[in-house]
Amino acid sequence: MKNKTVTIPIRQKRSWAEPYKIKMVEPIHMTTEKERAKCLADAGYNTFLLRSKDVYIDLLTDSGTSAMSDRQWAALMLGDEAYAGSSNFYNLEAAVTKYYGYKYTIPTHQGRGAEHIISQILIKKGDIIPGNMYFTTTRLHQEIAGGTFIDVIIDEAHDPDSTHPFKGNVDIGKMEDVIKKYGASKIPYICVATSVNMAGGQPISIANLKELRKLTQKHGIRIVHDMTRVAENAFFIQQREAGYKSKSIAQIVLEICRLTDIATMSAKKDALVNIGGILAMNDEKLLSEAQNLAVVYEGLHTYGGLAGRDMEAMSVGISESVQDDHIRARIGQVEYLGNHIQASGVPVVLPFGGHGIFLNAKKILEHVPQDNFPAQALTAEIYRDSGVRSMERGIVSSGRDKKTGKNIYPKLELVRLTIPRRVYTQAHMDVVAESVERVYQERKKIKGLKMVYEPEYLRFFQAKFKKL
Ligand code: F0G
Repeated sequence: MKNKTVTIPIRQKRSWAEPYKIKMVEPIHMTTEKERAKCLADAGYNTFLLRSKDVYIDLLTDSGTSAMSDRQWAALMLGDEAYAGSSNFYNLEAAVTKYYGYKYTIPTHQGRGAEHIISQILIKKGDIIPGNMYFTTTRLHQEIAGGTFIDVIIDEAHDPDSTHPFKGNVDIGKMEDVIKKYGASKIPYICVATSVNMAGGQPISIANLKELRKLTQKHGIRIVHDMTRVAENAFFIQQREAGYKSKSIAQIVLEICRLTDIATMSAKKDALVNIGGILAMNDEKLLSEAQNLAVVYEGLHTYGGLAGRDMEAMSVGISESVQDDHIRARIGQVEYLGNHIQASGVPVVLPFGGHGIFLNAKKILEHVPQDNFPAQALTAEIYRDSGVRSMERGIVSSGRDKKTGKNIYPKLELVRLTIPRRVYTQAHMDVVAESVERVYQERKKIKGLKMVYEPEYLRFFQAKFKKL
């Protein structure tokens, strides 16, 4: 018999899958629709005011909600709980230098602790702080320090349907105009976020960052990097930017950081810990000023409000967060949810972001005016339907203009389904998508809300509403 050549078909496509297996589980509680309706009314239709025991799948935020690895849990046992000079601090500083490239680190209790310190040091009354879209806590600290935030992100970032691959980019023309109008001496720094949260987790490109670097160096303006989700941004650069296909996430992260001067980070996101943040920089003079303020607001500059064990878990988390396998599965899961939701015709922000899927509430609830808080109403309805907790990112989050006291009407009126890292399964994602689809089909019944309590700062956290 003649030998026949057998061609084995090569599978071109293979599913993403997690580079870990589950060692411990945490039971979650399922509620009835009647129970959830009561919980919602008690919480004033604000998902921040629900008790987590009443939540089935918690997609409120990816902040501090990730699962630590066995190596991180082991690291907790290595806490050196000395008041000063804990070895965990030096390990953290070394990890920041190795993976992020910044020479000096001050630990902080979380991201806003770092934002507070840097805003107090660098901003004078009347200063202007441009940025690639605002973030709630970041802008507030700039304002408290006497500054005014100006948005210089590209226009595409405000358009949920634009598929621009780098919607986090700075509009260099807008930045030049700000410099021309106010003068460089009024601009202590530009705040550049990687994975722009309020735009839907959208990345900035290296090319854009390089161009910005050239412009800011010419005018002596620093770049403060909000690197809360830098590894997720690096993944999109690897996938989308010419010349980066063969570079590792770790290499790209370092390249991004090296194009900036100072960094603030909420380590509760990318860095895979439940609490903590950092302020990092290369300038020694600035460091002493920052260390001095850290003592006032955070704790000694070698612990900044954290236990030694927290810092050790953070060092390990930083090293895990820049591994290619980790980030591929992390963003793979977000994409999986996005594809599922999009397939049922629900309007979502495109391209999908790194940390979650953002529903376009303005389009979904076309019949609800922005004054009746469509995104807030949609988060409430999704919770009522399935116990899935999401978050408003629209007019409530935008707050009021600090001069006029009037509501700011943002172009983006979104509901964020934020995915904690390494926590939920594909089946959980299916439940979320099914619930969003069901609410979408019943959308005409949703009437909107009215605000009955409004706190002065960051109102989205504590505001209360009533159904119209
Ligand atoms: N910067 C960005 C881009 C953030 O997303 C956050 C927090 C912070 C700074 C502040 O850090 O919470 O540790 O003080 N974002 C959370 C969220 C709250 O749900 O998006 P923090």
